[in-house]
Amino acid sequence: MHDSTFSDVMSEVLEIREQYVRDRSVFVEGARMVRILRALGATDEDLEKIRLVSDNLSPDPTLPFRESKNGRFCFDFDRSAAYRLESQPFALSAEEDFVRHDSGQTRVFEEIGDDLQGNTAFQALLAFKSLVFREVPTAPRPKLDYGNPSWICTVFNLRTISTPDLVGEPALEGVHSDGVDHTMTTFLGCTNMTDDSAVTFLHDMREKNATRWNETDPELVLGQCRHRHFLDTLIVVDHERKHSLSPVSAVDERQPATRDMLIFFTRKPVLEGHISHPYDSLKAHDRLPMVIGLPSPAARGELVGAGGPVAGGTARWA
Ligand SMILES: [Fe+2]
Repeated sequence: MHDSTFSDVMSEVLEIREQYVRDRSVFVEGARMVRILRALGATDEDLEKIRLVSDNLSPDPTLPFRESKNGRFCFDFDRSAAYRLESQPFALSAEEDFVRHDSGQTRVFEEIGDDLQGNTAFQALLAFKSLVFREVPTAPRPKLDYGNPSWICTVFNLRTISTPDLVGEPALEGVHSDGVDHTMTTFLGCTNMTDDSAVTFLHDMREKNATRWNETDPELVLGQCRHRHFLDTLIVVDHERKHSLSPVSAVDERQPATRDMLIFFTRKPVLEGHISHPYDSLKAHDRLPMVIGLPSPAARGELVGAGGPVAGGTARWA
């Protein structure tokens, strides 16, 4: 890795961050993401492997049209590191703008394994997200501990599947928020999916929760985008923009259609009285340990990926 390439890419990340700060969401094309992730340590081999990582998912605990895994990671900026956290049940409540039949239920997902967390493209996605959201002030959520230096990132690897009998809904809950501060969604691939499937709509916070994507108030739609290319990525300030998605439709309706995604939820640890308080451990995972260095935005540093240290560059922001 040449320093110049790394510096160029860090300036590009800085531009993306500026757009995120200004617009409260940013969509980054996959081709641009490939360039950025390579500079952050992703190998060509792992960029190929991550396309297929969703072939090994498990049945979702509550949704019949979805396969899933999840894993929790901590962004620890004091140590310039991200590490795997121990497994905990997952819960989202109506209080957090998530209204669905399983709101408030605790759900236990199959755990993300080394095939994903050991992949340098995945690790570079964590590093990329950390660079974009770090020190971006957002509307605070109730019962989150904004004095805590740690950030909890719950990653979901999801495959939504439409079959002749069942419509795959990337957001069955309609208009909602994810209960976090910063949501990042990255497209890994699809099969037999139409070109107008799975459009993401961003809504003003005044839009009513649980409204279907096609029944929302057009005046409250703030934008829309569609993940179509490998690594197309959207980042949203989750407590300032609600979102909804259209379903996955099949080109050949006799065959299944699939859509594979990585979702990175990031929020501060919660305070007592929050639904996730019993499930918010900051303890490292002992059976599936993983730790990576995070690039520092303000100092010439080193990024340590699975392949070893990568020469750092300099990018500055206030
Ligand atoms: Fe969501």
